[in-house]
Amino acid sequence: QLPQHVKLVDVGPRDGLQNEKQAVPAAVKIELVQRLQDAGLTEIEVTSFVSPKWVPQMADNAEVMAGIQRKPGVRYSVLTPNLQGYEAAVKTRPDEIVVFAAASEAFSQKNINCSIAQSMERFRPVVQAALAAGIAVRGAISCAVGCPYEGEIAPERVELVARLMRELGVQHVGVADTIGVGTPRKVQRALEAALKHYDINQVSGHFHDTYGQALANTLASLEVGIWQFDTSVAGLGGCPYAKGATGNVATEDVVYMLHGMGISTGIDLDRLMDAGQFISDALGRKPHSRVSNALMAK
Ligand code: HMG
Ligand code: MG
Repeated sequence: QLPQHVKLVDVGPRDGLQNEKQAVPAAVKIELVQRLQDAGLTEIEVTSFVSPKWVPQMADNAEVMAGIQRKPGVRYSVLTPNLQGYEAAVKTRPDEIVVFAAASEAFSQKNINCSIAQSMERFRPVVQAALAAGIAVRGAISCAVGCPYEGEIAPERVELVARLMRELGVQHVGVADTIGVGTPRKVQRALEAALKHYDINQVSGHFHDTYGQALANTLASLEVGIWQFDTSVAGLGGCPYAKGATGNVATEDVVYMLHGMGISTGIDLDRLMDAGQFISDALGRKPHSRVSNALMAK
C-alpha cells in the first residue's frame, strides 16, 4: 500500500537558483515563490543564509524573504549553516530552518568548510535557538548514496548522521542524493538507515536527477512509505560544490507521476508548469521537465 497523499517541498528558489551564474533579481525570485504557492505548494524553500562569498546568488536572502506574500497554510523554509546564518534568518521569520550536513567527510569540507563532527557542533546552538523560538528544524544529509569525492557511501554513514541529528533535536531529515547517482535499492537502504532514528513522517527524499534516476528513486521511496519529497520546479539547479550535478527532479514530473498513480499532492499541474515556464524564461532556457516540454508541445 503506497501513501495516498504526498507532500512536495519546492526547493527551486534555493537549491534551483543557488548554482545560477547570472544574478537572478530578487523580484524574480519573489514572483517564483508567489507562483509556486498559487500552484498549491504548501512548503517552499525560499533561500539560504550562507556566506555571499561562497554562494553569491543567495546574497539577497533577506530581501527575498521580506518580499514574499505569505499565504496561510504555506511554510517558508531557509538554510542556515551556522549561528551567524541563523541570526540573520530569524529576523526574516522563516517557518522552518534547515541545517545541512553530509554523510561524506570530503563533501562536508568542500560544502561547509568543516568536518561532520564540527558541523554538528555548529548546528547545536542553531537547533536550540530555533526550537526555543518555535521554528521547525529540518536537517539535510548530503551525499547519502554517493559523493563526488569519495564515491559510494555506505548506509551506515547515513545512519550515523541521522543519529547525530536526532541527538541535536533536529525534527526531520532529508536524505539527499546530491549528485543523483543513486538507484532505487541503494536509495531505499539510505532511507532505511535514516528511519532507524526517525519515524516515517519525519524523513523525506531529496533527489537530484543527474543520472535520470530520480523518478525511479521517488517510486522506490514510496514503496518504503516515504511521502515527503523535495523537488524543484522546472528541474532547476545543482550544488555549487558538486561539479556536474544537475537539478533536483522536476516538480512537474513528480506531480505527473503521482497524479497518474492516483496519489494526491494538492498541486495544480497547469499552474505549476506556468511557474516553471516563468522562471525558465527569466533564465533564458527551456524547463528541464519532461512533462512540461511534452505538454507544451501539444
Ligand atoms: P567559513 O569560511 O568556514 O566560515 O564558511 P567562518 O565562520 O570562518 O566565516 C568566514 C567568513 O564568512 C566571515 O566573513 C563570516 O562573517 C562569513 P569575513 O570576516 O571573511 O568577511 N560568514 C557568513 N556570512 C553570511 N552568512 C553566514 C556566514 N557564516 C560565515 N551564515 C560557511 C562556512 C558554512 C559559511 C560557508 O562554507 C558557506 O557559506 N558555504 C556555502 C554552503 C552552501 O550554501 N552550499 C549549498 C547549499 S547545500 C546543498 O545544496 C545541498 C542540499 O540541497 C542537499 C543535497 O542535495 O545534498 C541541501
Ligand atoms: Mg540539493
